[in-house]
Amino acid sequence: MRETLRERTESMNPVEFIEKKKRGNEHSPEELKDFVLGYVKGEIPDYQMSAWLMAVNFQGMTDRETLALVEVMVNSGEVVDLSHIEGIKVDKHSTGGVGDKVSLILAPLAASCGCIVPMISGRGLGHTGGTLDKLESIPGMRVNLSREEFVSQVERVGVAMIGQTEEIVPADRKMYALRDVTATVRSIPLICASILSKKIAEGIDALVLDVKTGSGAFLQEYEQSRKLAQKLKSVGEEFGLRVKAVITDMNQPLGNKAGNWLEVKESIEVLKGKGPGDLVGVTVYLTAWMLVLAGIASDLKAGEELASRNLKNGKAFEKFLELVEAQGGDVRYIENPEKYRKAPIVKPVKSMVSGYITEIDTELLGLAAVGLGAGRKKITDRILPEVGFVVLKKISEYVKEGEELCIVHAKDERTFEQARGNILKAYKITQYKTSPPPLFYETF
Ligand code: URA
Repeated sequence: MRETLRERTESMNPVEFIEKKKRGNEHSPEELKDFVLGYVKGEIPDYQMSAWLMAVNFQGMTDRETLALVEVMVNSGEVVDLSHIEGIKVDKHSTGGVGDKVSLILAPLAASCGCIVPMISGRGLGHTGGTLDKLESIPGMRVNLSREEFVSQVERVGVAMIGQTEEIVPADRKMYALRDVTATVRSIPLICASILSKKIAEGIDALVLDVKTGSGAFLQEYEQSRKLAQKLKSVGEEFGLRVKAVITDMNQPLGNKAGNWLEVKESIEVLKGKGPGDLVGVTVYLTAWMLVLAGIASDLKAGEELASRNLKNGKAFEKFLELVEAQGGDVRYIENPEKYRKAPIVKPVKSMVSGYITEIDTELLGLAAVGLGAGRKKITDRILPEVGFVVLKKISEYVKEGEELCIVHAKDERTFEQARGNILKAYKITQYKTSPPPLFYETF
């Protein structure tokens, strides 16, 4: 007779399991399943999962283990069935960055062009911001739809944006929150399993992956980002998805704003046909690949033309309003972002020297945002939606001593001063002019 899951979980020894990975040995798919599902059921505590995640960070995983981890995480909940909805279901996911608000624009934009977009996203992770925290800065906006509500909204609106739930990828829901606060994010197999489990569980056919590289990415070295892009693509394809992986730049924040509501505000600017060129460029490029994968555009150029048109003609903005309204958000703030409450302190950070911006330590900028309250240091931390900063100077620009580098939105003087210190440290200003980094590197 087959052992039931409960019997196997009870018989497994979590300490031996952690020890095995600590020594760099390979787990069997069965023991991985027992450990992860035991954790989801509350039988394995956070401290043992944290220890194992740290062991994986140092020892890595074989391809067999990575595939098994994706599978067990997908099957920790239900896989959404969208087969009754006509059309190709397509999504995008980023490996995480600072000021990376692309999903907020791209999801309604792609839906306005005819894609079906059932998007499951995450919260802030480490020094990077998260789509769910940004969406939740919109008063009333719900990201915890039930499976039925999610499917019904995708049918009606063509797009829904939610988080991992008790029903869908509960394993990622718990492990993601733990990785955020235990310095266990920077691992290729853990990133692969986290992203792909969410995407496979959504019931999609095709996926565009935005793999960040540079000082604000989790994997900052180009070769590591390349390895991650290739692994995400091959594992995604193994699970039957059509995948495009694009390596994009994260040597400086994307767009000009970082912080949850500030990023929603900047997304509204882009959805209204304006906004910063780098943000528009990356969003249009990734959306165009979604349109190609969905068979809506014949090639990348046609996809870019259609996406740019829908940003200019208001269709993407209309779809965003429909999406926010469907999820209970107060559209008056989307129509009139100036009405949103301001942080008590809004003050500039001024350069101490004159020169060219040659580098920006974007991870440090991300940590400055977390320190202001835009992200979490502990699972129980509450996000402050109105804090963050506006970047006024980017790589290659000249700045004079006393000129403003950033405008910080803070809850008090203490957090402003901390952020100011980190921002000044993050900017490398020299007498040598450099070119701005490219927006994209390779597409696989
Ligand atoms: N995005 C995710 O969903 N998971 C990761 O681990 C990193 C980025």
